[in-house]
Amino acid sequence: MSSGIRFEDVSVAYGAGSGRNTVLDSFDLTVEPGEVMALLGPSGSGKTTALRAVAGFVQPSSGRILIGDRDVTGLPPHRRRIGMVVQQYALFPHLKVADNVAFGLRARKTPRREIAGRVAEALEMTGMAAYAQRHPRELSGGQQQRVAIARALAIRPGVLLLDEPLSALDAQLRSGMLAELARLHRELPDVSILYVTHDQVEALTLADRIAVLDRARLQDCGTPQDLYRRPTTEFTASFVGTANLLPVTVGDRGVSFQGAALDVAVGAAAPGAGATLCVRPHLVGLGEGPNALRGRVAEVQWRGATHRLYVEVDGHRVTADVRELRAVPVLGEDVTVHFAPEDAVLLGAGVGHDRSG
Ligand SMILES: Nc1ncnc2c1ncn2[C@@H]1O[C@H](COP(=O)(O)OP(=O)(O)OP(=O)(O)O)[C@@H](O)[C@H]1O
Ligand SMILES: [Mg+2]
Repeated sequence: MSSGIRFEDVSVAYGAGSGRNTVLDSFDLTVEPGEVMALLGPSGSGKTTALRAVAGFVQPSSGRILIGDRDVTGLPPHRRRIGMVVQQYALFPHLKVADNVAFGLRARKTPRREIAGRVAEALEMTGMAAYAQRHPRELSGGQQQRVAIARALAIRPGVLLLDEPLSALDAQLRSGMLAELARLHRELPDVSILYVTHDQVEALTLADRIAVLDRARLQDCGTPQDLYRRPTTEFTASFVGTANLLPVTVGDRGVSFQGAALDVAVGAAAPGAGATLCVRPHLVGLGEGPNALRGRVAEVQWRGATHRLYVEVDGHRVTADVRELRAVPVLGEDVTVHFAPEDAVLLGAGVGHDRSG
């Protein structure tokens, strides 16, 4: 049975009196049944708090949390049918792998004859069947995390909560596990997943939608493509991917940047208004082209397949990620960079594109 997750105007505060600190502020979010929602945001923005509120480990000071159509706000954690995986595996060191995975089933008084089958199934799914009789200390970090995932899956949760499950793993293992999580989700299409991360690659790769948090508040929510291609705020633009953000003035047609006219769509923005132009570094080209900007090379980084150039244009730094260059410009060299009109997004100034449109 599939069930989504709904936050209805949820606030969480710690402390009392003047030391009271709201760490989740009027949070509204719906995770559809079977959807993977990433919660992305800087450290301290409230991601773990939101997850713990769903799990039942923190109590909202106001608002409601629903799983499916059931209001779970007052229910204890073990009655919410959720599986949870946190960053530090949190396996019981004295229990063998199989017993770790069986733990949630035993706690829920699952009939004994069912337990062995469910444990085997969960270990199979995570590729850990051969390790059932080992202790956690006899496993690598990646293997321990698989066991933690198996333990969460064994109870057949309607909702899976993952709190930075890969951040303790090295980069290569992380990308392998990312592919595994995607496969697991295909095998369990009914399970709704709330996935906390501050790694935007994880969010972009895995999520159907991304909710962006900053300072206890939901800032934005949309598909990865939406947030990346059509961010609505500077925060989203710079947090989901990297962004060039240039201060511009809206004109009748296009905008002006430091006196130079640029051809970009201005939508409903009022002429004369200040706005911010967002262009992704990989969409900035080196050399002449439309929307050319002249500047001076401030830094060059070789990144293997690409060169990253930082170009100083009238006191503003423009970042360009270009395919590996044969003739690399030297520091201080005068260069021209450009971008296509359709690759720029105007932010602010009542531009008025929104997620529903
Ligand atoms: N038990 C607690 N008591 C008091 N304050 C807390 C408690 N738990 C969290 N906080 C505060 O709540 C805020 C949000 O914390 P939270 O753990 O949700 O952030 P996060 O987005 O998960 O950050 P990170 O990326 O670092 O894990 C922080 O300012 C934190 O200090
Ligand atoms: Mg956290």
